[in-house]
Amino acid sequence: MDKELDWSHLSFGYIPTDCNVRCCFRDGKWGDIEVSQSETIDLHIAATCLHYGQEIFEGLKAFRGKDGKIRVFRLEENARRIIESAKGIMMEPVPVELFTEMVKKVVKLNERFVPPYGSGASLYIRPLEIGISAQVGVKPAKEYMFIILVTPVGPYFKEGFKPTNICVMREFDRVAPKGTGRWKVGGNYAASLEAGEKAHSLGYSAVLYLDPKEKKYIDECGPANFFAIKDGKYITPASESILPSITNKSLMQLARDMGIEVEARHIPIEELAEIEEAAACGTAAVASPVAEIDDLDTGIKYVVSKDGQPGPVTTALYNRLRAIQLGEEPDVHGWNTIID
Ligand code: PLP
Ligand code: COI
Repeated sequence: MDKELDWSHLSFGYIPTDCNVRCCFRDGKWGDIEVSQSETIDLHIAATCLHYGQEIFEGLKAFRGKDGKIRVFRLEENARRIIESAKGIMMEPVPVELFTEMVKKVVKLNERFVPPYGSGASLYIRPLEIGISAQVGVKPAKEYMFIILVTPVGPYFKEGFKPTNICVMREFDRVAPKGTGRWKVGGNYAASLEAGEKAHSLGYSAVLYLDPKEKKYIDECGPANFFAIKDGKYITPASESILPSITNKSLMQLARDMGIEVEARHIPIEELAEIEEAAACGTAAVASPVAEIDDLDTGIKYVVSKDGQPGPVTTALYNRLRAIQLGEEPDVHGWNTIID
């Protein structure tokens, strides 16, 4: 860092840090962890990640707490999810212990990039795995590379914790009904780019996808899950074409802790007319409140926030989650890993 970063005004972008960590799977086993100062990799031109999309990733965050300690949120859940993604597209799963050791190492080595307490920013941790062996036939690779890079980030939606508008467009699907939606596969994001860019050009912060089979039920919200508050209950889509969000799972637990009933079920789009609050939730999005959901095909506008303010339940859940991540409240569920 040549000069001090402006921690309170970081965007969700990429800022170089001191190093990343890497490990390769070759000859049937994972090798030694390498610490690299390089921001590039050397790849075979026939690597399966380049031709057949063998790429999966994760996203988690480290926070500087009130007590100065660094906490990584739900490390083990992310380690488990990338194993499911690996199995989903026939890649070599990274053992939980290796994932854990590498996250701890890369955060420790880049400690000076963990934003200060009170800045609202965090250190985003991006593990990724790629198939690296040469293969021209459509087959899984025999060799894999697992990398973890980190970068300090601010809010994903530039508005921060302020309601934004999202839209429904039936002309796009990000995944197939029984496809790769439940895994964090790079190709899902490629498939979402056109819809995302169109939504942004129309002034929306994200696309609210409907289920790709029937286009009846809410699926998820761009790179985040969706939840709503209806009759005081926390409702969130149950679907096999969405990523099982660890943030959503955490918010459901916090809702239950607060005595709020939780329902994970199909949510028909028409039900949006009856909701009191809505938000997109994820590691990057945290809980980003929704003001209005515009169905661009039917012209129906579901107004969620009439006064342009986040609702009380969303606010309470957001505050609770942040307080646990920042060590302001006891971590009763054991979600944080302290880096020392
Ligand atoms: N859905 C998609 C498609 C995502 O990319 C993400 C981001 O990781 C999420 C949901 C939220 O998941 P999590 O809360 O585990 O970050
Ligand atoms: C995350 O929330 O960690 C994500 O992976 C979203 C990302 C695609 C920006």
